[in-house]
Amino acid sequence: MGIISWLAVTFSVVLILIGVLYLYLNVAFLYWRKRNFPYLRPTFPFGNLGVLLTRLKSMGEVYADIYRQMNGMKFGGVYLMHRPQFIVRDPEMIRNFLIKDFEYFHDHGFVFDEKIDPLTGNLFMLTGKKWKDLRAVLSPTFSSGKMKIMFETMVECGQGLTEFLDEYAYSKDNVEMNEVVAKFTTDVIASCAFGIQCNCLKHPDAEFRRWGKRMIEQSLMESIIGILYVLVPSIPIFFNLPLTSRSVSAFFRKVVRETIEFREKNAVKRNDFLQLLIDLKNQKRGKEDKPGFTMDEITAQVIVFFVGGFDTTSVTMSFCLYELAMNMDVQTRLSTEINTVLQQYNGRVTYEAIKEMKYLDKVVSETLRKYPPVTFLNRHCTKDYNIPETDLVIEKGVQMVVPVLGLHKDPEYFPDPEKFDPERFNEETKSRRPNYVYLPFGDGPRVCIGKRFGVIQTKVGLVCLLSKYEFQVCDKTADSLKIDQRKFIMTPTEGVWLQARYRSDPF
Ligand code: HEM
Repeated sequence: MGIISWLAVTFSVVLILIGVLYLYLNVAFLYWRKRNFPYLRPTFPFGNLGVLLTRLKSMGEVYADIYRQMNGMKFGGVYLMHRPQFIVRDPEMIRNFLIKDFEYFHDHGFVFDEKIDPLTGNLFMLTGKKWKDLRAVLSPTFSSGKMKIMFETMVECGQGLTEFLDEYAYSKDNVEMNEVVAKFTTDVIASCAFGIQCNCLKHPDAEFRRWGKRMIEQSLMESIIGILYVLVPSIPIFFNLPLTSRSVSAFFRKVVRETIEFREKNAVKRNDFLQLLIDLKNQKRGKEDKPGFTMDEITAQVIVFFVGGFDTTSVTMSFCLYELAMNMDVQTRLSTEINTVLQQYNGRVTYEAIKEMKYLDKVVSETLRKYPPVTFLNRHCTKDYNIPETDLVIEKGVQMVVPVLGLHKDPEYFPDPEKFDPERFNEETKSRRPNYVYLPFGDGPRVCIGKRFGVIQTKVGLVCLLSKYEFQVCDKTADSLKIDQRKFIMTPTEGVWLQARYRSDPF
């Protein structure tokens, strides 16, 4: 056959494949219509979420757009390629899904294979009874008693943070604060989770910072594997492709193994997450007397605490500093509160002092409203669910999505949503707002387990910074922050450039 014939055959095969795909998707796209659900019209071939593949918008922004397009609807269907997704907008229905009817929606619905990827057996990914048992075991790690113990570590790292900025305040150089606070939160979580002082602020090449970055900055191949796990998990599972990169797993396995061996050999006990997990390793589990945690199970939890712990909190801090620099009246009011309260505590940052800072609480809440690090919640329907007062049934296997960013930017609940206004969180305004429209940590039994830890860590970092420095915009500060489309956690693409100036009356 000549080259022309080969080209003709190839072209015909491609046309046939496109035709088959077209027919297949057109049938798949009838899903919501056939079941009488309201839905947004999909387009070939990506359904309603094609813009995700173009990487022009982040997932949170795409779901927020869908939320706006569904204006006036309580809920509706969309398609992620061939997969139907159920979008819920109505606060009362959100409550039902997350809390009241949790038994139908207890899983996140990520498909993974613990044999290929043992480190995916973590609290975030696990399903059903395995998740429930693990959650019960891990919850005490985040009690307020444990938080008080870890508080001192946070303050020590906070002091490192203020020392680090000395150089910039002195030289008046611009500083990219997202990277600086990420080093602070990595120091905190490495210390609280592993008992390791990695001093990322002092050593720019610290291993933990490198691996932390590596975990959130996926290569193209890792992104493709991630997409396949969402769309057609059987393919990566068939080819033995792990979701957690092999090098990342190897690093954390080594750190966990070495730390545990050291502690066991030297009878060292510490007040950190790892110690709790070590104790679980040596305990039998449940009535069935199953053996305790394996090394991989421990490593999987440590990884999820590490990822959940440093990135979410560091972006919250950097978005907050950005807004404070853009809204100097808010910053002045906040720093006055911080310094007044600290004076009553002899300049010491204590757990009780932070609890007294009511305006700080409002500022952090407003930051999490405007920039929720986790921009949408997802649940997997595990058995057919009849939507109350309708004859509509959400079928087992359908994904349910709560567009958190869409709710947080809805002018009906948060008038003038682009305005940074901490007063949205005073008692009176809060009481006028419906419940379940503000969900930075999710809600219900699957609410963020590290919520308390994340909030305290954010506050400690901000108090340490604002008691000493004033943050001002500089010539590199963006007028509005662009959001990185490639990242799952809402992250400013070009960082947050600011200038730190000494306050006239620092502690
Ligand atoms: C500002 C900081 C944080 C934010 C905004 C945040 C947000 C969230 C959200 C929205 C969820 C999903 C909840 C749901 O589906 O209803 C979640 C789950 C989770 N978060 Fe956080 N998080 C933060 C800090 C932390 C920290 C510090 C840790 C650990 C040290 C952590 C560990 C986890 C874990 C393990 C889960 C899965 C819980 C489960 O499925 O049972 N997070 N987080």
